[in-house]
Amino acid sequence: MSNYSIKNLEEYFQVYRKSVRNPEMFWEEIAEEHFIWRKRWDKVLSWDFKKPEIKWFEGAKLNITENCIDRHLRTKGEKTAILFEPNDPKEDAQHITYNRLYERVNQFANVLKDHGIKKGDRVCIYLPMIPELAISTLACARIGAVHSVVFAGFSSKALATRINDSSCKMVITSDGSYRGSKTIDLKGIVDEALEECTSVDTVLVAKRINSEIKMKKGRDKWLKPLLEAASVECAPEIMDAEDPLFILYTSGSTGMPKGMVHTTAGYMVYTAYTFKNVFNYRQNDVYWCTADIGWITGHSYIVYGPLANGATTVMFEGVPNYPDWGRFWDVIDKHKVTQFYTAPTAIRALAKENIECVDKHNLSSLKVLGTVGEPINEEAWHWYNDNVGKKKSPIVDTWWQTETGGIMITSLPYITPTKPTYATLPFPGIQPALMDENGEEITGNQVDGRLCVKYPWPSMARTIWGNHQRYKETYFSAFEDMYFTGDGALRDEVGYYRITGRVDDVIIVSGHNLGTAPIEDAINEHQAVAESAIVGFPHDIKGNALYGYVILKETGESRKHENVRKEINQLITEHIGPIAKLDKIQFVKGLPKTRSGKIMRRILRKIASKDTSNLGDTSTLLNPEVVQDIIDHSI
Ligand code: WT7
Repeated sequence: MSNYSIKNLEEYFQVYRKSVRNPEMFWEEIAEEHFIWRKRWDKVLSWDFKKPEIKWFEGAKLNITENCIDRHLRTKGEKTAILFEPNDPKEDAQHITYNRLYERVNQFANVLKDHGIKKGDRVCIYLPMIPELAISTLACARIGAVHSVVFAGFSSKALATRINDSSCKMVITSDGSYRGSKTIDLKGIVDEALEECTSVDTVLVAKRINSEIKMKKGRDKWLKPLLEAASVECAPEIMDAEDPLFILYTSGSTGMPKGMVHTTAGYMVYTAYTFKNVFNYRQNDVYWCTADIGWITGHSYIVYGPLANGATTVMFEGVPNYPDWGRFWDVIDKHKVTQFYTAPTAIRALAKENIECVDKHNLSSLKVLGTVGEPINEEAWHWYNDNVGKKKSPIVDTWWQTETGGIMITSLPYITPTKPTYATLPFPGIQPALMDENGEEITGNQVDGRLCVKYPWPSMARTIWGNHQRYKETYFSAFEDMYFTGDGALRDEVGYYRITGRVDDVIIVSGHNLGTAPIEDAINEHQAVAESAIVGFPHDIKGNALYGYVILKETGESRKHENVRKEINQLITEHIGPIAKLDKIQFVKGLPKTRSGKIMRRILRKIASKDTSNLGDTSTLLNPEVVQDIIDHSI
């Protein structure tokens, strides 16, 4: 018997030991007992971190939607699968049952097929958080098309880059989206992006805001009539375990975003098993993750993980402050939410508001609270624990990444004693290691180092779309035979892990992963800019905000400077999206560089954080004189 549902700390340790002693047997038992397979695997795992090549459940055949939908119909057909809560609280919520989800996914799948989409084709989904987003994702999986969901806050240029990188044949979008009291012209953004894309034949458009939009003849089609005419039956495409399920882009330290490729069987098994245990999901629970499906959190823990367990998963279209800062708590009371999973940046923003916003709510349905996306500071942790959880709902601080597919280090609610700011213990099957700068593993407790993983787990990304070499260099070259996460971590006296933050050129702003290079590239497009460097600095709500040091080609009067500041942020908005805008821009005469020409970001980070007491030895710099000047004029 597998330990699909872990019941106490002793059992956790026992399961964990088993998962390390014999990982293949461990995962095989879980896979065998809890999923539908059209054909069993020939081999549980083959791997080589040098190539790197990782295969789980090789030879098995399955369809993930059969596991997420069809198999629940007999016992849970009338249970709500997706509970849609719209942006406007006056609009009715929608309870989409498993029976209805089955029909809607199949109809959508048939529309995709009618438009020439086949197994292996890439489909770009650029939609707000409306049911069509989850349904179109599942429809792709139904027919074996590879979905590439692009967060609908990205700009047209960022969208075009992603469409082109994986040569998508189709884009699924909507006329527009709601964001609090505003609307956004999504279709306009798609039209602009497609001027730079040649691979797209069809654009399917959902109606959401009833705006007047242009429809390009032959290319653009309204979804509704197509869906209504489509059959509610569509046989699932039978996939190989290692067939790609989706591509999801994440930023890297160099220009192009990385299209992380996740495959079918391992991803399904791991997201399902983690969802069950990390959120302690029980059959009548109403689970709510506030992330957008445009991020991995939404893929794994709004769509696939919950549905694989026959859960009720809330999809929220709105924002935390519309119509007011009590919205999250209204939704929890309205739908009797039992598990609530959100980001530290949202918690910090909510904590700034009048405590009445929370206190006038009941919140007694809550059993488990979760956080994800960045380290949670102690103050925010306590605020969440005291005011939302009323000290009775355990907080699970879940550490993971787009690349890991599922939660890796976390406490289990009602099982692992929590410790503020600590993600605590590895999930079964995960073997973390802390490494020093010489590539040696640091053993023992009360140590810190670079966080790696020693052994494969089922939901790890298998490659970067079209660039396996970059996958190898980014994740498997820093330390031999290890997956390198890019994060630093410490391990305390009992073996709990605390993630301390990125050790590479990625900065996490409001829980969004931003690479410095693409932002610098955008800034450098400005004709007045000679060179630039971006660093992060601590920010009350966002966690980190961006500080830009910019060298201008010519120094001019300050009015001009003000314009350049605005134009730089405009360029960033165009190239990446508003989330990457700079909070501070300082014009400098030079950037501190090593003798080999590398920008010393460490020094710039300290100056931006107003921590200039100990800058270290600057005398070996190529241009030590610029440092004092930057300090003197820092903002
Ligand atoms: C990076 C991954 C995984 C879903 C959302 C982010 C940071 C994530 C935590 C946490 C401290 C965290 C790491 C990681 N991070 N969760 N609980 N505590 N840091 O996915 O965009 O791929 O970002 O987010 O730095 O490497 P992502």
